[in-house]
Amino acid sequence: MKPIFPKWMNALPTLLFFVVNGGVLLVIAGFWYYATPKFWEVGYMPTQPGSGFNHQIHAGKLGMDCRYCHTNVEDSWHANVPAVETCMNCHVENRLNVELSSATDDKVQFIRDAYNEGVGIEWRNIHVVPDYANFPHNAHVNAGVSCYSCHGQIQGMPVVAQVEPLSMGWCLDCHRNPEENLVPKDKVTDLYWVENEWFGKSVEERAHAGISPEQLLDTLKRNPPEHCAACHY
Ligand code: HEC
Ligand code: HEC
Ligand code: HEC
Ligand code: HEC
Ligand code: HEC
Repeated sequence: MKPIFPKWMNALPTLLFFVVNGGVLLVIAGFWYYATPKFWEVGYMPTQPGSGFNHQIHAGKLGMDCRYCHTNVEDSWHANVPAVETCMNCHVENRLNVELSSATDDKVQFIRDAYNEGVGIEWRNIHVVPDYANFPHNAHVNAGVSCYSCHGQIQGMPVVAQVEPLSMGWCLDCHRNPEENLVPKDKVTDLYWVENEWFGKSVEERAHAGISPEQLLDTLKRNPPEHCAACHY
């Protein structure tokens, strides 16, 4: 009797097994790869309330120091975003020396509303290290690691986006080469200087950039930890 199915069909279940499972495995592998924080957190740029906050205008064009708003970056394990009162220092009606255009005035109305209603502004958090890893923010700033190394060129960002993966490998890459990532302490928040005059220059050129021998010595004593318990406990 002639078989209903041709002989090669015997291989079909096996073939199907590999195709289906291979497919599933590929999907899992793909998901694992791309869903790993390295890929989906870089570029993370949530929509902020109101007309948002523009670092390019405030920290770039107006030249405000980061610490005017991020007041505790030198004192606390956790950095802070400013309360609405800080914005009101300038954006309360007629407080600015600068004449605001009516368009700009409309854009800052949400600040006055939030202040008058006593609710504050619910800024959406961008950079997050999971709870099981300890990240002392102040230790880094005080050691001379520039905001630029971890947050990118914020002074040029109309909207803040995450530019580094904040993964364990990323932490350790820097901890293994701390000297390369340190800048003179008084330049930590001067991001254009850091980008162009420090990281953009050779070691010889940097030697002329005004860093004192004491600072350099202090710099080289820095010994960022690589053992598990330093970050996980
Ligand atoms: C006038 C106040 C002000 C100044 C000056 C300022 N910031 Fe901000 N910053 C904010 C506000 C408000 C937010 C929250 C809204 C947002 O993310 O855009 C913020 C958010 C951030 C974030 C993202 C925080 C998160 O959620 O992960 C980083 C990083 C940051 N600022 C770095 C800087 C750096 C670096 C400087 C100096 C070059 C600076 N800021 C200057 C007000 C300010
Ligand atoms: C030291 C004064 C000062 C402080 C503090 C300040 N701003 Fe401003 N802001 C300005 C000036 C000046 C302008 C107008 C800049 C321009 O027109 O080029 C402006 C413009 C703006 C605009 C409109 C710009 C646009 O087109 O997007 C928004 C929105 C704004 N600020 C939000 C904030 C928020 C939110 C805070 C608090 C976290 C804040 N500002 C704190 C001085 C300040
Ligand atoms: C060594 C890397 C590193 C440096 C240097 C650094 N940051 Fe951060 N920053 C981070 C990480 C990582 C987070 C998220 C921390 C967390 O989840 O606990 C963060 C969080 C923040 C936040 C969010 C705070 C919040 O309320 O969620 C702000 C604002 C900020 N940094 C500003 C700054 C400023 C300004 C500087 C420079 C003075 C700076 N950072 C320097 C790595 C760094
Ligand atoms: C760009 C460089 C850089 C990156 C990125 C970085 N670190 Fe560090 N870290 C340092 C330096 C430099 C020190 C040494 C500080 C000192 O000696 O005071 C340090 C110190 C530490 C310490 C010890 C602090 C203390 O008080 O002794 C911990 C914990 C730490 N880092 C955790 C982390 C974690 C977690 C991450 C990633 C989320 C990270 N670091 C990313 C440069 C970096
Ligand atoms: C410099 C700080 C630092 C050190 C040292 C460190 N880790 Fe981590 N580790 C982290 C951070 C930050 C994360 C979270 C990464 C993320 O969000 O993807 C993490 C995540 C992890 C995870 C979760 C899985 C993953 O990769 O996301 C494990 C497991 C882990 N670490 C084990 C260890 C072990 C074991 C050691 C010692 C050999 C160690 N860590 C040393 C910072 C550190």
